[in-house]
Amino acid sequence: RKKLILDVDTGTDDAVAIMLAALHPELELVGVTTVNGNVEVQFCTDNSLRVLDHIGRADIAVYEGADRPLVRTGHPIVKRYDEGGEKYHPEELPVPPARSAKAEKTAVEFLIETYRAATDPIVLMPVGPLTNVAAALAAYPKFVKLVPELIIMGGGYAFGNVTPSAEFNIWGDAEAAARVLNSGFEKVTLVPLDATHQALMTLADCDRLAALGTPAATATAEIVRFRIDVHDKYQKMGEEGGSAPVHDAVCVAYLVDRSILSTTRYPVEVETASPLTVGTTIVDTQFRSGMKPNVDLALSADPRKFVDMLADTFARPHGP
Ligand code: BDR
Ligand code: CA
Repeated sequence: RKKLILDVDTGTDDAVAIMLAALHPELELVGVTTVNGNVEVQFCTDNSLRVLDHIGRADIAVYEGADRPLVRTGHPIVKRYDEGGEKYHPEELPVPPARSAKAEKTAVEFLIETYRAATDPIVLMPVGPLTNVAAALAAYPKFVKLVPELIIMGGGYAFGNVTPSAEFNIWGDAEAAARVLNSGFEKVTLVPLDATHQALMTLADCDRLAALGTPAATATAEIVRFRIDVHDKYQKMGEEGGSAPVHDAVCVAYLVDRSILSTTRYPVEVETASPLTVGTTIVDTQFRSGMKPNVDLALSADPRKFVDMLADTFARPHGP
């Protein structure tokens, strides 16, 4: 089984990512770390615990991480970020309250200790702002050599979703993202909006999941219907109505089946200075910068394989 650690800001699509990672038979979710992002970090932690309890995986520990970006003070991400005036990511996801509690250790302690002790490869999958990963690098510079692979949800080549050019996770902590992309991790796959907006889930997909009747399928159907509702009102990027991306879960699916995304190797940097474009991922598709390619960038995705994987995984018996 492939091992992974999910670094999340749960979050509606993060919740689906957690369920897929915890229930897919080919994956072993070693732990979950949380970071301030979609909601304040204590809500990200509580939502992650709720989801794991709900699907009968309370054995997977949740470690709370950064409550604010690495460098910036007064960043709007610390107090609720609202997409168009409606909460895309509720502080309490629609699953019962958590019975289990967060782990003692912090996210950074867990990350460093786990990678120092690891004997098998563990993929690190950040699907929120990159604060915890940058903090682990700062606290323990050898961290960069210990992580065999990063799969990051973040960035946008053709468009942003917070500003005209910046995507939420990178914009949420641009300095952390710049540090992570510049540190020389051996293998980094960046999964930007360009790819996740091709793996849309539809209302019909939600009906298909709901009909399965398992805890994960039912919760995902409800969460994705809610995402579609908000997406239709505020975030459409030319898509047809009745569909929405479920960004973070696409990264988990890709770890299982590498044919779900197609990637190209490019130099990618993060803008940290310009007020207009802060948090934008600058992709050097023409190789003008002279910089060595540092990222496998996913620019397209196979929506059917992704949705089929969710349905097949969530159909398997599970529960509290
Ligand atoms: C990313 O931002 C968050 O709102 C989602 O959870 C996802 O990780 C998409 O831009
Ligand atoms: Ca997220």
